[in-house]
Amino acid sequence: MQWHPNPNERRAYASLKWSTFPDAELPLWVADMDCAPPPCVRDTINRSLEHGIFGYGKEPKGFREAWVDHLHKTHQWTIDPDWIVPVAGVVPGMRFALMAHPQIQQILTPTPAYPYFKTVPSIEKRIEHPMALTRVGETLQPSLTQIAETLETLTEPSAILWCNPHNPGGTVYSKQFLEALIATASKHDTLIVSDEIWADMILNDKPHIPLGLVASNDQPTITLMAATKTFNVAGFGCAVAIIPEPDTRARYLETQIAMPHVAPLAYAVTQSCLRDGWQWHRELLAALQHNRNTVIDWAKSHPELEVTTGDATFLAWIESHNQMDLSERFAAQGVRLSPGGPFGSDTAVRLNFGTNPATLTEALRRMDAALLSNREEHS
Ligand SMILES: Cc1ncc(COP(=O)(O)O)c(C=O)c1O
Repeated sequence: MQWHPNPNERRAYASLKWSTFPDAELPLWVADMDCAPPPCVRDTINRSLEHGIFGYGKEPKGFREAWVDHLHKTHQWTIDPDWIVPVAGVVPGMRFALMAHPQIQQILTPTPAYPYFKTVPSIEKRIEHPMALTRVGETLQPSLTQIAETLETLTEPSAILWCNPHNPGGTVYSKQFLEALIATASKHDTLIVSDEIWADMILNDKPHIPLGLVASNDQPTITLMAATKTFNVAGFGCAVAIIPEPDTRARYLETQIAMPHVAPLAYAVTQSCLRDGWQWHRELLAALQHNRNTVIDWAKSHPELEVTTGDATFLAWIESHNQMDLSERFAAQGVRLSPGGPFGSDTAVRLNFGTNPATLTEALRRMDAALLSNREEHS
């Protein structure tokens, strides 16, 4: 695994991350990384190019088995291949979960969270109940008591949108925590939709525990997974919804009619990564640990900030203790981070450290300058 030495070149390829802001600015925002994916991806695309015909596709043989094997081997979750519904992305997969349940009007969503956790309930016209995550030790966590209390007050059917590992903040939930969450949801017949796109991006020595492994198979749960973060192939939209309970799965399958399906190349890329990408991925995790440590060291010289990297993801969540608009300050010095507002916190930003160490160091240097100018203004 090698970082791209000059990710600026991504601007020529309509990259959302690099082509959105002016050339002089360093974009450490949207969650893809500045590196080529495992070599198997190039081989898969080359084979398809050599064949040269790009008609309608169908789910390839071995796709489900690749997921079944991966989940069994890596996460000790034994699933039935029939539980899998392929979808063109985790975010559409979350929306299908709500479309499949029009009777569920009350939605509990973590805050702060990846912005689509708010956009999806809002666009589906549901009523949102925030589950606040606060800092407990080194991670952000919601309160199980608050979740139970919220569910107690609801008289209509409800769902919890869950994110594990959590974006932002990288919380990896323990089996005990998930058991308590599942028990509370079960008591209120609450559907749980668990976004586990970051499952294979854990940087510390903690296991990922799939929600569906802990829940009973007759409880309504929808676990969403993808290989797109793990192998840096977000441009090939492909994800799976894993739904053990048959009625929940039947409702979900109905939402798939007249929807865009997974493209043949996206299926093939995901399948090849799950089969042949793991050596590359081990090297990636080591490179990300190095960058994460750079961010942690940088944070030590900034007591005015609270920086959470948690146990997973390549994203650091940076909050200001003194209500500074960090996003604007850093942008003024030529560093574009994800503003915290859409995540649910106006005074925070999210930094993507999935880039080469030189780019990261230069961005942190510019952020130092932004914080210094703020100190000078207030001294
Ligand atoms: C928690 C979470 N869910 C979903 C997504 C996007 O998923 P997809 O591209 O498969 O729709 C992201 C991307 O950053 C994410 O962080």
